[in-house]
Amino acid sequence: MFDLLTMRDQLAAHYDLAPNPDLAQEMSEDYARMKRVVSPIDWAMHAPYVAAIKALKKKRHAVILAHNYMTPEIYHGVADVVGDSLQLAIEATRVEADVIVQCGVHFMAETSKILSPDKIVLIPDMDAGCSLAESITAEGIAEMRAKYPGAPVVTYVNTTAEVKAASDICCTSSNAAQIVGAMESDTVIMTPDQYLAQNVAKDVPHKNVVWWEGSCIVHEQYSAKDLREFREWNPGTRLIAHPECPPDVVAEADFSGSTSGIIKYVTDEQPEKALLITECSMASNIADSLPQVDFVGPCNMCPYMKMITLEKILWSLHTMSEPVEVDPTVAEGARQAVQKMIDMSQKLGI
Ligand code: 13P
Ligand code: SF4
Repeated sequence: MFDLLTMRDQLAAHYDLAPNPDLAQEMSEDYARMKRVVSPIDWAMHAPYVAAIKALKKKRHAVILAHNYMTPEIYHGVADVVGDSLQLAIEATRVEADVIVQCGVHFMAETSKILSPDKIVLIPDMDAGCSLAESITAEGIAEMRAKYPGAPVVTYVNTTAEVKAASDICCTSSNAAQIVGAMESDTVIMTPDQYLAQNVAKDVPHKNVVWWEGSCIVHEQYSAKDLREFREWNPGTRLIAHPECPPDVVAEADFSGSTSGIIKYVTDEQPEKALLITECSMASNIADSLPQVDFVGPCNMCPYMKMITLEKILWSLHTMSEPVEVDPTVAEGARQAVQKMIDMSQKLGI
């Protein structure tokens, strides 16, 4: 738990973190990647943090892995690798560093630790959770196995290490349909996201997909009615949804894919107007590289992702906190489930 005031006092004693327009000007190359969405005044406030974090990364031999939902000053300012859950999991196995700072939520940091047990994995806020990860325990997996004997359990990476260890294989939103489709059994258990499972079920009609009743608090808020109304009011807008949205929402969209799938789609298609039916930072992070696309409409914030800030990243590198640890036996079971997913994704060319 953070004592923000103590953290600020201690950081101020070591770094000059006052807003600095001159430094902001010197770092205009970094700013160029976010100037459509970050004001010059905000950049003058961020620049001292970005400079201090970059210097500390070198000193600690650290890399920052950042999810696509991080804010632009993190995504463009300090991250070494950005991506969706699958890309970050794969990168965790490849990066050469002593320290990984995971800018994302806890399950992502835990996945990095599971795949890189010899590295120090830090998360800038241990309380950055996920409603899906909180929705199920290893007992829930056992319940599903008892209900559907013999059916394999495909578990979304948005889960704890214990839940992964109790599962047969993991999946992410980039590879879920292909992994479920590749299971040998007719019935496949998907946990914990009911909506991802229902969306996958449509893509693999030859499988009997059964699911746990978890959901994402960000994506479950969208409704098909809102989308229909939005289309009526904003003709010509391309609607692009994450598969954690309910299936009737996905059905209203022009495209559905993982966060990186969404970025690729918008980059390839360059629609005049786009509504990204997902977390707010997604549109912000690609706005400058796609100046001709008008990103419109409402978005939803993930309160967990937004717990990660430049200030906490600096604190994390300054104090080497908070290290993520996973019980070795649990970690080995979870590693097998994640590694099976990575191997199968690579075999399937995803
Ligand atoms: P992606 O794997 O698509 O990045 O999704 C992760 C996530 O938590 C979305 O809410
Ligand atoms: Fe979890 Fe949803 Fe936040 Fe993704 S957006 S981390 S699924 S709560």
